[in-house]
Amino acid sequence: MKIPQDVAQTIVDPFAYADGKRVDDAFAWLRKEAPLAQAQPEGFDPFWVVTRHADILEVERQNELFHNGDRSTVVTTIEADRKVREMMGGSPHLVRSLVQMDNPDHMAYRRLTQGSFVPQNLRKLEERIREIAVGFLDRMAAQGDKCDFARDVAFLYPLHVVMEVIGVPETDEPRMLKLTQELFGSADPDLNRTGTDIVDTDAGVDTIQSVVMDFMMYFNAMTEDRRANPRDDLASVIANGTINGEPLGHLEAMSYYIIAATAGHDTTSSTTAAAMWAMAENPEQFAKVKADPGLIPGLIEESIRWATPVKHFMRTATADAELAGQKIAKGDWLFLSYPSGNRDEAVFKDPFEFDVERTPNKHVAFGYGAHVCLGQHLARMEMRILWEEFFKRVASVEMNGEPKRMAASFVCGPKSVPIRFKLH
Ligand code: HEM
Repeated sequence: MKIPQDVAQTIVDPFAYADGKRVDDAFAWLRKEAPLAQAQPEGFDPFWVVTRHADILEVERQNELFHNGDRSTVVTTIEADRKVREMMGGSPHLVRSLVQMDNPDHMAYRRLTQGSFVPQNLRKLEERIREIAVGFLDRMAAQGDKCDFARDVAFLYPLHVVMEVIGVPETDEPRMLKLTQELFGSADPDLNRTGTDIVDTDAGVDTIQSVVMDFMMYFNAMTEDRRANPRDDLASVIANGTINGEPLGHLEAMSYYIIAATAGHDTTSSTTAAAMWAMAENPEQFAKVKADPGLIPGLIEESIRWATPVKHFMRTATADAELAGQKIAKGDWLFLSYPSGNRDEAVFKDPFEFDVERTPNKHVAFGYGAHVCLGQHLARMEMRILWEEFFKRVASVEMNGEPKRMAASFVCGPKSVPIRFKLH
């Protein structure tokens, strides 16, 4: 069965993700009526839409059968794909980070930084991260009894943490935030570089390409600096690292910085902002964590499930295969819908309820398998520290205006969460 056109259009429509309910309804319908079926929105090649939790895991587990890099890793129109290939000498990717790699490169490049993100090494950062968190909560408290929690805290805190890890100076953080929002928010007129609703493919790809170039210019200078003066930061690991005895390729090194400097904060910011939104709307959930800080890990997992800031990744079949009773042909493209997997009624009881006591909570928001999120322990740690400090000082929160989500079908979350709060 082919997915009805209105549903197919919805799942690639950035504004449906801004609306929230429109995508939730589309995926709920798909999970029930066509859990694994082909979609072909106008202007796109056909692709399989993988909506069930079990099928997402099944695809991600088989990373030799379902490759990342053979086609675009993000759903793309035929025209945009043609344009990118034209710019990149036939490659479907503007960058070549871990996300676009398969083995053997993937394993070799991942090994380079993996050590920096394991819990025992992250523990060394605990004290410093707590200082940063307390600093942002002090600034929030100084605003009186209201703030926009997304803009004033959630966007800035994970940004500051990951920029310290990379080695980007504080003065450059606003630039990094702007570039990240221009990249992930390229379809959102409030965030993209043009300030308009981009409908033209050429303009869309050019806009993204110009943001990528700005990042590359910045990190190129940083590479030169860290080669001359290595420090104890991630930039020095990337600048001086070797793969099979050779320095990293230029595109690969630049892409490594870019993924850390974008995915390394925007996702955590979205999750933190979404958690606040959910607690402001569900005071009984706030009250539970307030009464028992032992529930903070539960709050974190539930907010990651709830927010699911990475909306999809694509995979490409390297051979004919069977999945959930369907025949997938070699070369077929698959859209893994993480938000759908995280609302799967077969795995989560009352999936549309925000429940800090949900156990188990085996969400797929960090992906699974060889490409599982490299920064998941850092993300959890940042959120744990923030909420530990937050619940010590904040007595109550409530919404103070209309929260808003950004428009994007790849990575997105709330862009505004106005709250009123009481301190102790
Ligand atoms: C709540 C926060 C975060 C969420 C929900 C998230 C989600 C994801 C997802 C879904 C993937 C793809 C996994 C797959 O294909 O199976 C991924 C990959 C990745 N994430 Fe995260 N992420 C978060 C935070 C971070 C942080 C803090 C970093 C820090 C640098 C980071 C760095 C990466 C990298 C480098 C990859 C590529 C891994 C690979 O392909 O091998 N992420 N993330």
